[in-house]
Amino acid sequence: MSRKLTDSWTLGGVRVSNRVALAPLAGIGNWFVRLQAKRFGAGLVVSEMVSSFAIHYRNERTCRELLRIHPEEHPVSIQLFGHDPEVMASAAERVAAAGADLIDLNMGCPVPKVCKTGAGAALLEEPSRAVALAKAAAHGSGLPVTVKLRSGQRPGDRSGIELARRLVFEGGVAGIAIHPRHASQRHTGAPNYELARTLAEELPAPVLVSGGLRTPAQAKLAFERTGAAAVLLARGSLGNPWLFAQLLADGNGSGAREPTRQEILSELDWVIERAVEHLGAERGGRYLRKFYPWYLERLGLAHGRRGRELLQALQTAPDIDAARALLRQ
Ligand SMILES: Cc1cc2nc3c(=O)[nH]c(=O)nc-3n(C[C@H](O)[C@H](O)[C@H](O)COP(=O)(O)O)c2cc1C
Repeated sequence: MSRKLTDSWTLGGVRVSNRVALAPLAGIGNWFVRLQAKRFGAGLVVSEMVSSFAIHYRNERTCRELLRIHPEEHPVSIQLFGHDPEVMASAAERVAAAGADLIDLNMGCPVPKVCKTGAGAALLEEPSRAVALAKAAAHGSGLPVTVKLRSGQRPGDRSGIELARRLVFEGGVAGIAIHPRHASQRHTGAPNYELARTLAEELPAPVLVSGGLRTPAQAKLAFERTGAAAVLLARGSLGNPWLFAQLLADGNGSGAREPTRQEILSELDWVIERAVEHLGAERGGRYLRKFYPWYLERLGLAHGRRGRELLQALQTAPDIDAARALLRQ
């Protein structure tokens, strides 16, 4: 029987209502971006990566802002990064207390600032430590733990595939999220879905696939080609929560259509309100600067003089009210 994106499944004993999930996005995947994905149908949402050290040492802002979970976003997975198993266990305990349903560990981030601490993709080269981290997170939290990783460090390197096997068979992780580009590729180049397929066929735990899923057609193709349990939407969902609805609209339901201009503007307004609720008017105003280009692109204003002028005006607006007035015009 062929699987559908709308089918429910379970991940580490947690019921997930469909197979379309929000990927972790650093600096973006906070509670309201996750809630937005949920409102548009996402079955599972994963947080931006959060430092296990910051949680362990009770960094006030990290705990208040990044461990904030909205009651309507469950099931939610909080992604942690770090390299010290004891610290990881302590952070994971705190994440469970914050109300997360799952913990995801970042073993794929290629950013030097993260890798030089021994975290992220650096763990591809330290498989025993990686397994210890996964066990520590599960032990500390009592929650199912998944790991998101890359296929390897460099072209031809398959360390991520090897590590995924060890994490499942030795580390007991509940699932693997694979972004089948090597770390040195960062976020460019074609993902190798065949590698994801190999893992999905071989591992007894669910495999989620990430990478290159910007349109409904691309996401459906990756789902079919890899046999993955679910797809993780990342850049394709920025300013475009309709992508979730479009993927989940079986056949030609109304969710399959493109949003109208008014729908895009009122969604941006929802985001502005939530950002102010989350960070206050001043920080929220600055935080929103990265969101405007995504929504202008949706409005078909990413290119051309009018769009550039509006973006410039939004980015330099003195406050939220001024930005909202510009959008109303
Ligand atoms: C701005 C940005 C932030 C990201 N942050 C994270 C992160 O915190 N944790 C993680 O595991 N992956 C992170 N990723 C990787 C994405 O989750 C995803 O795997 C990647 O973007 C590939 O999917 P795409 O080609 O559909 O965008 C990030 C990617 C981008 C573009």
